Amino acid sequence: MKTIFSGIQPSGVITLGNYIGAMKQFVELQDEYNCYFCIVDEHAITVPQERLQLRKNIRSLAAMYLAVGINPEKATLFIQSEVPAHAQAGWMMTCVSYIGELERMTQFKDKSAGKEAVSSGLLTYPPLMAADILLYNTDLVPVGEDQKQHLELTRDLAERFNKKYNDIFTVPEVRIPKVGARVMSLQEPTKKMSKSDPNQKSFITLLDEPKQIEKKIKSAVTDSEGIVKYNKVNKPGVSNLLSIYSIFTNETIESLEQKYEGVGYGEFKADLAQVVIHEIEPIQKKYYSLMESEELDEILDKGSEKANFVASKMVKKMENAMGLGRKRR
Ligand code: TYM
Repeated sequence: MKTIFSGIQPSGVITLGNYIGAMKQFVELQDEYNCYFCIVDEHAITVPQERLQLRKNIRSLAAMYLAVGINPEKATLFIQSEVPAHAQAGWMMTCVSYIGELERMTQFKDKSAGKEAVSSGLLTYPPLMAADILLYNTDLVPVGEDQKQHLELTRDLAERFNKKYNDIFTVPEVRIPKVGARVMSLQEPTKKMSKSDPNQKSFITLLDEPKQIEKKIKSAVTDSEGIVKYNKVNKPGVSNLLSIYSIFTNETIESLEQKYEGVGYGEFKADLAQVVIHEIEPIQKKYYSLMESEELDEILDKGSEKANFVASKMVKKMENAMGLGRKRR
């Protein structure tokens, strides 16, 4: 069985972008792969976090992984900071990466732009991400399109390490979904949907109530043409809504275009809101019952135990390859 690793930051609510670009893929892949899904809290602290809120977000994300359908019998679900190998390997990978290549990462440029004080962790975020992936001999990393550059760097760092020290890492492949790799903002459809967007109307979260969803989709920016047609360049707003509709109903974009021919955006949007509500209602039910349960802690304990077992072995291999510590008898 091949291995999958992926992670999500517990940095707030989970958006429809996270769900479509990442989580939905995870659920589909867990039957065929040996999967590790991580709550990457050490990545979250590369930007300021309020401690109690972070704690809450970690638990909430764990429950959300399960609520969308991750089966802990099949996949290993764990919290990054509970597996010290990540920080250890992260440091070693930091020493293998160059400042120049880290400064070129678009996520670093976006997150640091205009800020007075930026943590050095924000710059060294990608080697920690590389460590996450490489610790498990990962073959495949399912992510949304925005993580593609980080994955390319992960591959470069793995190859560099293998060549310079010892050939110990599997060089992973990236897996980006064909549709929904980049769910766009509802307010500025040329920008990706993001939980850190200050405009709440620009994203839908998996915990939004039906009324909020209806409102947000109703006020989603489209165009003045009034024609439900997919054209990413000229009609980015409508195209984004069509993609979401298509993903949740499995209807093709063409059949949706036909269905809404001659009908205005109002009806299309009203139907889409119901489609989204229908998709996330069962997730919310499961989520709230999990948040109350002890089951969640048991699953996370088991997950970190398994992850620790696998990852600590790779850390030893890395240390040996680099010559750290003493030779073990
Ligand atoms: P994060 O927490 O920003 O996002 C989690 C996942 O959601 C995807 N995503 C989207 N997909 C489609 N459309 C969108 N609008 C959208 N917004 C977010 C992301 O691509 C991602 O797959 N660096 C990672 C976390 C990470 C990680 C890893 C991922 C740390 N270590 C190792 C994979 C493997 C991040 O910030 O994701």
